[in-house]
Amino acid sequence: MTRRSIVTGCGRYLPKRIVTNEELAERVDTSDEWIQQRTGIRERRIAADDEKTSDLALNAAKEALISAGINAADVDMIVLATATPDETFPATATRVQAALGMTKGAAFDVQAVCTGFIYALNVADNFIRLGQADTVLVIGAETFSRILDWEDRTTCVLFGDGAGAIVLQAHEENDDLVPRGILSNHLHSDGRHHDCLYVDGGPSSTQTVGHLRMQGPEVFKHAVNNMASVLGEAMVANNITASDIDWLVPHQANKRILDGTARKLKLAPEKVVITVDRHANTSAASIPLALCEAVADGRVKERDIVVMEAMGGGFTWGASLIRW
Ligand code: UT7
Repeated sequence: MTRRSIVTGCGRYLPKRIVTNEELAERVDTSDEWIQQRTGIRERRIAADDEKTSDLALNAAKEALISAGINAADVDMIVLATATPDETFPATATRVQAALGMTKGAAFDVQAVCTGFIYALNVADNFIRLGQADTVLVIGAETFSRILDWEDRTTCVLFGDGAGAIVLQAHEENDDLVPRGILSNHLHSDGRHHDCLYVDGGPSSTQTVGHLRMQGPEVFKHAVNNMASVLGEAMVANNITASDIDWLVPHQANKRILDGTARKLKLAPEKVVITVDRHANTSAASIPLALCEAVADGRVKERDIVVMEAMGGGFTWGASLIRW
């Protein structure tokens, strides 16, 4: 019998405030046409002034617990992916832990920017496989609106706020011919690309929060190549081809990156879950938001092959392959 991690619950939270491209065009020199043509983004959600990353995360986590049919007391661990924590420390995961009324277990953050959810999932999966945890809440939550330079049209139109969460639980099956759960994880980073995508502030460098800076076209080039190559790696590891994939749930940065990746892999476009049009790029929250939408609307069904993949600052990139 092999011990694996299966997803037993999903939750999402988006702030109420919708900001359209037209609204942004009143602030910076841009247009709805440019944003839609270059990115596929129509609108994004922006957190209220008093809404913190932990508030978004908490709402998504509560929904995930309900959908899994468990209580917070059943959770052994919270792994929260974010690049926009409430505070420098403690970990935002501990704020969520306290708000859920949990007094046991462990809670910590993982930082891999837009690849954060894949990293967090891999960490949680390892804890479960090793038997150190049975039930883990894995959350991706971000308030990127707080680190955007709202005068910089090359970045401020691209991002949004939100949170997604899943409950990951240990599962053992006698019949291992068609195993369910996370079948493989693939993580990468290459720190030489720091200057392509970073925040120009931080406690140890400037003692300020800083703003996001990005060389968009350079990131774009690497994104299509890295996403396609890590997906190839996941397919080889599981001895499958693109035609075996039921759903690709990619990090949502730019519709053109998603189309390019699908084309490169000869993957039917209707198998790609897309939310970037409504959410924009929510960094670590984008994959769980898209995944939970596809689960909630019935697209993802038991035993479907679901592949998640992301690429972000660092650079970091990675993929996880699940049989649902
Ligand atoms: O989540 C982490 C990973 N992030 C990504 O994957 C993002 C990857 N990069 C991208 O998605 C794209 O590179 C962008 C959407 C950021 C930019 O699209 P692009 O087609 O690469 O445009 P560009 O940066 O080459 O800019 C083309 C033109 C420039 O004007 P000139 O020099 O041709 O006159 C820009 O100044 O578009 C201009 N521009 C804008 N115009 C209107 C840049 N931003 C805007 C804007 N509105 N918001």
